[in-house]
Amino acid sequence: MDAMECISTRRSIRRFLNVPVDFETIMTIVEAGSLAPSSGNMQDWKFIVVDNKELMAKICEHSLGQECVYNAAFLIVICSDPEQTELHYGLRGARLYTVQNCAAAAQNMLLAAHAIGLGGTWVGAFDEEKMREILDIPRSARPQAILAFGYADEVPDHKRVKDLRVITYFNAYGTTVRNMHHVLKDYSLDWEQRINQAHTALDRLKEKTKEKTKQVVEKATSKSKSDGKGKPAQKKPSFFTKLKQEMDKRRIDKSK
Ligand SMILES: Cc1cc2nc3c(=O)[nH]c(=O)nc-3n(C[C@H](O)[C@H](O)[C@H](O)COP(=O)(O)O)c2cc1C
Repeated sequence: MDAMECISTRRSIRRFLNVPVDFETIMTIVEAGSLAPSSGNMQDWKFIVVDNKELMAKICEHSLGQECVYNAAFLIVICSDPEQTELHYGLRGARLYTVQNCAAAAQNMLLAAHAIGLGGTWVGAFDEEKMREILDIPRSARPQAILAFGYADEVPDHKRVKDLRVITYFNAYGTTVRNMHHVLKDYSLDWEQRINQAHTALDRLKEKTKEKTKQVVEKATSKSKSDGKGKPAQKKPSFFTKLKQEMDKRRIDKSK
């Protein structure tokens, strides 16, 4: 699977099979996290792998009871370790970069897990203080995210993704492009649109022809029925036929 396929097919998985994950696979995911970009390459993170069910039950309890936290094969709790980052980048480093660095690591892990056939979800709703207690996290560090991993036991629904034209601006905030594919010089969409329009027009024409044929047939049958109580309509006698009939009648009358 290439990078774009991995990114576009990854989904949050919250139901897991009761199947353990081997140590090597777990460490592959941890390694993926460690390879994420970080401000000044600080790598100001610590990853706590949790596979102890008692601990997982406690973590679950303090993560709004989200079942995926307990049912996962293992968790990775990502903690920021901001001391060095703050020294280098001040408040911005401590408050922003450390959070972003951990987020980059988290996404790397989720993608790596997906690429090697595991499911995972990011859990942000948890009680930080309780996490500190449960996992002995010192004051110098901060739990940023819990990632729950395991073999997937669900196929998520289709995900609605915002249109690129709505979320992308060019050169200034608020400047949108109506036809993004023109910018990318991809005209296949235009052709697809035209082909679809032609199909729709053809379908409409077919419907109209069908309707018209039906009307003509209905008109013809109702006319033939009204002329002779169900019998086919009699042809009207021509003027000459009528004249001949009249003359024949008179001839018969005279001969009487
Ligand atoms: C910062 C953050 C916090 C999240 N917290 C939770 C959470 O507590 N519980 C949960 O089930 N999913 C959580 N998610 C996962 C999102 O719900 C999920 O990524 C989103 O619905 C998009 O779906 P997808 O991951 O399948 O693309 C969190 C995601 C992020 C980035």
